[in-house]
Parts: sequence; structure tokens; C-alpha cells
Amino acid sequence: MKIDIITLFPNMYTGFLSESIIGRAIKENKVEINLVNLRDFTKEKHGHVDDTPFGGGCGMVLLCQPVFDCIRSLRTEDSLVIMMTPQGEVYSQKKAKELSLKNHLIILCGHYEGFDERIRSIVDLEISIGDYVLTGGEIPSMAIVDSIVRLIDGVIEDDSHEYDSHTNWMLEHPQYTKPRVYEGLEVPEVLCNGNHKEIEKYKLKESLRRTYLRRPDLLEKHELTKEEEKYLKEIIEEEKC
Ligand SMILES: C[S@@+](CC[C@H](N)C(=O)[O-])C[C@H]1O[C@@H](n2cnc3c(N)ncnc32)[C@H](O)[C@@H]1O
Repeated sequence: MKIDIITLFPNMYTGFLSESIIGRAIKENKVEINLVNLRDFTKEKHGHVDDTPFGGGCGMVLLCQPVFDCIRSLRTEDSLVIMMTPQGEVYSQKKAKELSLKNHLIILCGHYEGFDERIRSIVDLEISIGDYVLTGGEIPSMAIVDSIVRLIDGVIEDDSHEYDSHTNWMLEHPQYTKPRVYEGLEVPEVLCNGNHKEIEKYKLKESLRRTYLRRPDLLEKHELTKEEEKYLKEIIEEEKC
């Protein structure tokens, strides 16, 4: 997969692209990530990429010309152009999975007051990372690139994300590591007894319990299996006590 990130602040990505799982995925050629400086495309004097809004109002608005030229120089038949904006579709794990299967993503980061409205006509998708406003699209773009790259084949072990929260409209079951007892807090016995069938049952039921207690809205989207229906009934009874 190739990802082009259009930004006015490429230096913000230095640590993000060199460290940890993303850094390794790039080194191992699992993904190619290019930073494209929007300023390189402006035809304005003094390198301006923005101007004041028509009709008045505070802040500066990104100009059409550098954005149109930049996207046209990168786009192929295989590309999906994504605008980062708090007005977009709210991002989800489902979307991350969908995007991880694409060949070429072009991610457009805004800054200042945002974009000239006409820029929306040349993007394919608008994504928001949540109902709050950041100063620029750089951090949102890192969030979506991170979530996509970890789903690319071979970047992390497949079963590390199979049970991840939100993968199947569920939250992940509780996790423990050594020691078995810490300051009187114990690891559930079932996880230590080596009975894999019991362990799988525990993980599924506790994943359901956590989702039911913390995010019941997710369960409305999750299609329960017969086994899950049974566990959920048990959980509802148990939680009444
Ligand atoms: C200060 S914001 C502009 C907000 C704009 N005035 C509005 O009310 O919709 C500047 C840029 O940060 C990015 N941004 C801010 N919050 C975001 C969010 N929740 N999701 C995605 N991008 C965001 C976008 O690229 C946006 O163009």
C-alpha cells in the first residue's frame, strides 16, 4: 500500500514515521508513506496557501489552487482521496479495515479555519476522528494511518487484532500478565489452568460483559451467535445481583 499525506507541517511526522510498528512496517516495505508539502504547489507570491474568507470572519481558508494541483499530481485510477475534517464521517474500526485493503490513499490535512468549500468536489471521502476540533489534520491523519497500517497483512500478528476492541462491534476481554497475584489482586483462575476451551469461553463471555456494561450501543450492531445470546442472558442476570 502507498499513502501520500498532504500537509503544511511535514516535520510533525518525524517520530511517528520512524518509531515502533509504523517505522518497522516502512522499513520492511509493507507500506510506503510519502509526505507531500502543500506549499510546494502554490502559485501565489511568497508561498501563500491560504487567504481570508469571503463574507468576512476570522481565520484563514486554504486556497483551491495548490490543493487541486497537488491532488491532481498524485492521483491515479487506483487512488482514494480522503479529506481530514471534523465535518466528515466519524472514523471507526470498520472503516480502518476497509481502507487497509486499498492500494493508494491520499490524505489531505487542513489547517487554520479549514478548506475552501470547492475543494470538497475533488475528494472521495471526508473523515473525522471524533466530535472535537484540533488545530490541524496532522494528528487525525496519524491516527487513521496508524489504525490502517497495523491491519495490513504481515505488519502485526493476525490474531493480535482479531480480538481487538471494535473489530466486531465488541470490546476486548480483560487481559492479565505476571505475577498471578499483585497487591492482593488475582488473575482469574480460568486463564491459568491451561484448558483452552474454558479460556476461549471466558474471553468471549467477558468481552460480551465489557461491551454490555460499557458500550451497549455497540451490541446493537453486533449479530449475536446462539452461544453469545446464551452468555448475554447469563451476564444480564449476573449483573442484576
Ligand atoms: C481548526 S480545524 C478547522 C475546523 C473548521 N473551521 C470547522 O469548524 O469545521 C483545522 C483542520 O484540522 C483538521 N481537523 C480538526 N479537527 C478534526 C477532526 N475531529 N477530525 C479530522 N480532522 C480534523 C481538519 O483538517 C481541519 O481542516
